[in-house]
Amino acid sequence: MKIRQLDFLGSAVAEEQFPPADLPEIAFAGRSNVGKSSLLNMLLNRNNFARTSSTPGKTQTINFYQVNNQFRFVDLPGYGYAKVAKVKKATWAAFINHYLEARDNLIDIILLVDARHAPTEDDKMMYRYIIEHGFSGTVVMTKTDKLNQSDLARAKKRIEQDLQTQGRRMFATSASKTKGKYRFWDHLNQLFASHGLDIIVERQQEIK
Ligand code: GTP
Ligand code: MG
Repeated sequence: MKIRQLDFLGSAVAEEQFPPADLPEIAFAGRSNVGKSSLLNMLLNRNNFARTSSTPGKTQTINFYQVNNQFRFVDLPGYGYAKVAKVKKATWAAFINHYLEARDNLIDIILLVDARHAPTEDDKMMYRYIIEHGFSGTVVMTKTDKLNQSDLARAKKRIEQDLQTQGRRMFATSASKTKGKYRFWDHLNQLFASHGLDIIVERQQEIK
């Protein structure tokens, strides 16, 4: 199946704005500016379908992107942005938590970490949450174009240790150089299959 239809279902700031939980959803979590929106654009062959910005804290809402009327990618607000007021941070955390707890159709939460930086306490907390809730614990390293091979190998080890990934899957990606895209799609296809879903996205999809 090619990606033939993409629908932005909106940005939610409250539960009433979530779309009905009638299609499988895969959520993407990570620090603000880690490259969540960019990764989604790379996966979906779009330049600016998921809104990106060099200003951290751009995505402050939960954004639902529906693919082929079959499944959704969910872009969660980035956490850990220092300049955001404490009250607002707490509100976001509660909101994200609410989404993660409320959605029966959530089949996985993918954690994104910037390959250049050690995981933060927030990353560790998020990862523990993911594991404790029975999700796969798949990690996507972003911005790998900024590192050479040996630094990348070191970064991977550090992330494995800090998050205690314990052999769970990790993917190296670069949205700016379109790296790691097909491997990660293969993984998503396996994820669909493991949930008994008849969804296979072709590797070489291109939409105009
Ligand atoms: P928030 O919405 O604020 O949580 O951020 P985000 O995680 O969605 O990050 P976003 O995709 O908006 O990217 C943040 C910045 O990092 C932008 O300036 C991107 O161009 C840049 N960026 C994202 N992915 C990559 C990558 O693979 N390589 C490089 N070099 N830059 C990247
Ligand atoms: Mg974003």
